[in-house]
Amino acid sequence: MKNLKYYLKKAEKEGWAIGQFNFSNLKILKAIIRAAVNMKAPLILGTSEGESRSLGLGQAVALVNSYKKETLPGRSQAKLPIFLNLDHGKSFLYIKKAIIAGYDAVHFDGSKLSLKDNIRETKKVVNYAKKFGVLVEGEVGIMGTESSKIYKESFKIKEENLTRVGEAVKFLNKTKVDSLAVNIGNFHGIEKRGRNPRLKIERLNEIKKKTCKTPLVLHGGSGTAEKDIKEAIKKGIVKININTDLRVAYTTALKKTLKKKPKETTPHKYMKEVVIAVQKVVEKKIKLFGSNNKI
Ligand code: G3H
Ligand code: ZN
Repeated sequence: MKNLKYYLKKAEKEGWAIGQFNFSNLKILKAIIRAAVNMKAPLILGTSEGESRSLGLGQAVALVNSYKKETLPGRSQAKLPIFLNLDHGKSFLYIKKAIIAGYDAVHFDGSKLSLKDNIRETKKVVNYAKKFGVLVEGEVGIMGTESSKIYKESFKIKEENLTRVGEAVKFLNKTKVDSLAVNIGNFHGIEKRGRNPRLKIERLNEIKKKTCKTPLVLHGGSGTAEKDIKEAIKKGIVKININTDLRVAYTTALKKTLKKKPKETTPHKYMKEVVIAVQKVVEKKIKLFGSNNKI
């Protein structure tokens, strides 16, 4: 199977983006995998520190590995190109545990640290991860929020939190990360009206011009206008993270199903519609990112 680096390069060359979809249980994972198979799309499975603690690091790896053995229907040689990433790892210690457990990639989120401390801590992660052939995503610039949640009120992007071009260049030169998460007005979660503030494409353009060789990552993909996503891909984003949209689809479908069938107590029966709802969202994103038919 081709590795993640191969797919990041391929995406860059061909002008599409690989999706990272987060999961916290087997049903969400199953829905994501079904979408990958259906759309013939390589993808990244993400777990935040919290999601991985809930699943168990070893269990997350074992679950993803069990799907890595599968082949595409009718193509006995084509294994599923899926990769497991630790999302928003905040401590070196926890990242080390994820690497030892068998994660393919890790994201070290030192964005709340000073640039100097972020560089120092990221370098530690890169040096360690390299020994295992694990890819590292770094981050510069501050995301609007701590974790995925739906906003009640409208959200204002603070100019000073956006990724600064000079800082991104310095960070890349010093850390040698494999990819960089940028903050261009993106944030975790969805704004109340379902429409997030517009991305600052001009800032992305400036960052890309100076960091041309490094794959750029967009976090907080849920709720972002489709035209902004398309524009961001055109301007060099090659990986997009999605979580809230899946959580919303999962929870809404679950509530609806249980309301419709209040006497149903068999989880594998009432979860069927939930899996379908999540799968549909993932398929829509894959199409939007242009990562379908890339296996
Ligand atoms: O790291 C995870 C993503 O950035 C998810 O963001 O919940 O807004 O889709 P989202
Ligand atoms: Zn994120």
